[in-house]
Amino acid sequence: MEKDVIIALDFASTNEVKEFLQPFKGEPLYVKVGMELYYQTGPALLEWLKQENYRIFLDLKLHDIPNTVKKAMQGLATLGVDMVNVHAAGGISMMHAAKEGLEIGASGSHRPLCIAVTQLTSTSKQVMNEEILLAGEVQEIVRAYATHAKQAGLDGVVSSALEVPTIKEACGQPFLTVTPGIRLLGDATQDQKRVVTPDKACQLGSDFIVVGRSITQAKDPLARYREVKQLWEDNNQ
Ligand code: C5P
Repeated sequence: MEKDVIIALDFASTNEVKEFLQPFKGEPLYVKVGMELYYQTGPALLEWLKQENYRIFLDLKLHDIPNTVKKAMQGLATLGVDMVNVHAAGGISMMHAAKEGLEIGASGSHRPLCIAVTQLTSTSKQVMNEEILLAGEVQEIVRAYATHAKQAGLDGVVSSALEVPTIKEACGQPFLTVTPGIRLLGDATQDQKRVVTPDKACQLGSDFIVVGRSITQAKDPLARYREVKQLWEDNNQ
């Protein structure tokens, strides 16, 4: 599995996305479409991104009863995206149902990778303990949720890069880790709590880093993307 940098297209409209991507023409990008954008634009934007030859992570973080997740995934599998996800908090049967739905929907063609969100990178230990009411260290919960995702047959998890070593130890090297919460030195962390630089994420063993505001809010997004990619690739060798 090839490692890559994924740009989070956290915009509110197709126009904003097209304007942002203008300078990237010809770059073989991997992009992430999340709920802000998808709920405004629907599958039409995905179609356009595919025509531009971008790989797509559709980050809708499904979490519902198993049957609903299975049916939703059956539909999402027909959109031609490369990666989709669910919340591991939905449990093993729900995650298993997600994969089943994708397999049915893909019907013989390549099914999208399916990964599970362990704990959001905006969640601190205090919030996890006192509001989500999960006792213990973030690392322990993330490791346990990753194990559940593996048992359900998923391809990997979303976590902070800080948790990648324990996930790989528990689930094996090929089990994918997709890590948001990436910041360059000197960037503001904003709402993210468990943040890591691109080079550190690579050293910790991340398979994919997801970078949003560090690139999308930069004065020169293309230059910033190349800087991130360079830090990532230098540490991959
Ligand atoms: O702007 P920033 O780099 O913080 O964006 C991170 C992106 O990754 C956002 O689109 C957010 O929804 C997503 N994400 C996350 N933490 C997770 C899963 C997804 O920050 N655990």
